Amino acid sequence: MQFDLFDETQNKVLDAKTYAEFKEELVKSNCSKCTLSQSRTHIVVDRGNPNAQVVMIGEGPGENEDLQAKAFVGRAGKLLDEMMKEIGFDTNGESLIMNVVKCRPPENRAPKQEEVNACNPFLKKQLALIKPKIILLLGAVALKHVIEGKKEFSMGREAGSFFEHPDFPGVKLMVLYHPAFILRDPRKKPVMAEHLKRFKDYWDGAKAQ
Ligand code: URA
Repeated sequence: MQFDLFDETQNKVLDAKTYAEFKEELVKSNCSKCTLSQSRTHIVVDRGNPNAQVVMIGEGPGENEDLQAKAFVGRAGKLLDEMMKEIGFDTNGESLIMNVVKCRPPENRAPKQEEVNACNPFLKKQLALIKPKIILLLGAVALKHVIEGKKEFSMGREAGSFFEHPDFPGVKLMVLYHPAFILRDPRKKPVMAEHLKRFKDYWDGAKAQ
């Protein structure tokens, strides 16, 4: 039997008792579970507040994220922050933003299924430690990989409504357009703004209870 040195390192990450410990161990692990490790600069764990009750999940780090080791700090992230600010929501203070894969796919291509599978235990551990009340799925790639069995769908139909899923008991989920999609097609911005308002109204109501 081959001895896999990374198993031990991975177990340390997955055995973490606190989010801070998880993050530290994952960064330290120098993970090589998939080939994205060969071209990445940094493992990108998240951005925002680990005590927040709202989690946003994107696709994977881009160039800026890879260089700065922080999620959504490029043009798409700036647009996300700006649109959230317009509804009175502070992304850094009130949410924790993470991705389906923690290392940048070359040329910003979508992550492959085997890369998502390799990284999935880390995403699951993040969610288990944070215990969010709301999960916002940013874009089709996040929806496809976070919701088991979701393969064929139309974003036009999925985006903007809350749903629940047995894998996430007690959590409200909402799919949103990915901000990079809005950068490519700004005509969709008012629709996304409407979806964000719906999220904010729900969240304000839930907090008041
Ligand atoms: N796009 C994503 O999906 N995630 C990031 O962190 C940045 C851009």
